[in-house]
Amino acid sequence: MFEEKFWSYFFEIHHELAREAPGADSYTEKAWRMIPNLPDNPTVLDLGCGPGASSLMLAQLGAGHVLAVDLYEPYLKQLDRRALIKGFSDRIETRCADMASLELPIESLDVLWSEGALYQMGFRDGLTRYRPMLKPGGYVAVTEAVWLTDNPPQEAYAYWEMEYPDISNIQAKLNNTEDCGYSIIGHFTLPPKTWTDYYAAIEARLPAFRERYARNPEAQEVLSLHEREIEIFRRYGDSYGYEFIVARKQD
Ligand SMILES: C[S@@+](CC[C@H](N)C(=O)[O-])C[C@H]1O[C@@H](n2cnc3c(N)ncnc32)[C@H](O)[C@@H]1O
Repeated sequence: MFEEKFWSYFFEIHHELAREAPGADSYTEKAWRMIPNLPDNPTVLDLGCGPGASSLMLAQLGAGHVLAVDLYEPYLKQLDRRALIKGFSDRIETRCADMASLELPIESLDVLWSEGALYQMGFRDGLTRYRPMLKPGGYVAVTEAVWLTDNPPQEAYAYWEMEYPDISNIQAKLNNTEDCGYSIIGHFTLPPKTWTDYYAAIEARLPAFRERYARNPEAQEVLSLHEREIEIFRRYGDSYGYEFIVARKQD
């Protein structure tokens, strides 16, 4: 029961945010341009697209067909509206589906894209599951949470191990990628500004939410979880980040 309420308060805070994870159009573009030899009008799957900042950018960069998949329907409606305004409706198809069970034809995708979302089914499980759906020599481009230090501060470690147990260091993620049958093309760490921008957008929502639900302990708990995440970043944000990893399916 609380879970249902949790998500309704969560989505109230997050309503109509432009993105749901640290990132920026310029880094979507940087990762896209690292991919060599893309065919014309490539087919891209954007897994866990959220409100679709990356999907819109991929269409702008030349993707011929972006299948934008998310579990949360209102994000997809938001993306449909944004795609219409930007003139990309004919190239962005939204689909409400669970990434853990989505079935697509074998060897139908040129690129699997996922910003801050593949961890929902597990980084390795995701890379393994979607590999057969990629064309021979197809590509993956994903952002994934990583430690940027060998000795993460205890408080940050405890927080992230609970929230994001798949977190590890960059080299371990690169090894995982290779173990799943890909060769690394390149990788880079998203700069801290992508995190501060993301959290600033959320923080702007919090005072009104706090006031609206002043006497509602469950809503206040959801508020506290957001404040805690942001506080952890303020104190320890230099010890972790998102790594953009671009890789090619091996034969
Ligand atoms: C951290 S957000 C990132 C969203 C988006 N990629 C962005 O950068 O704005 C993770 C997204 O994954 C979606 N999601 C969570 N579990 C999912 C699942 N099993 N299948 C598909 N999408 C899922 C959430 O609804 C959310 O939109």
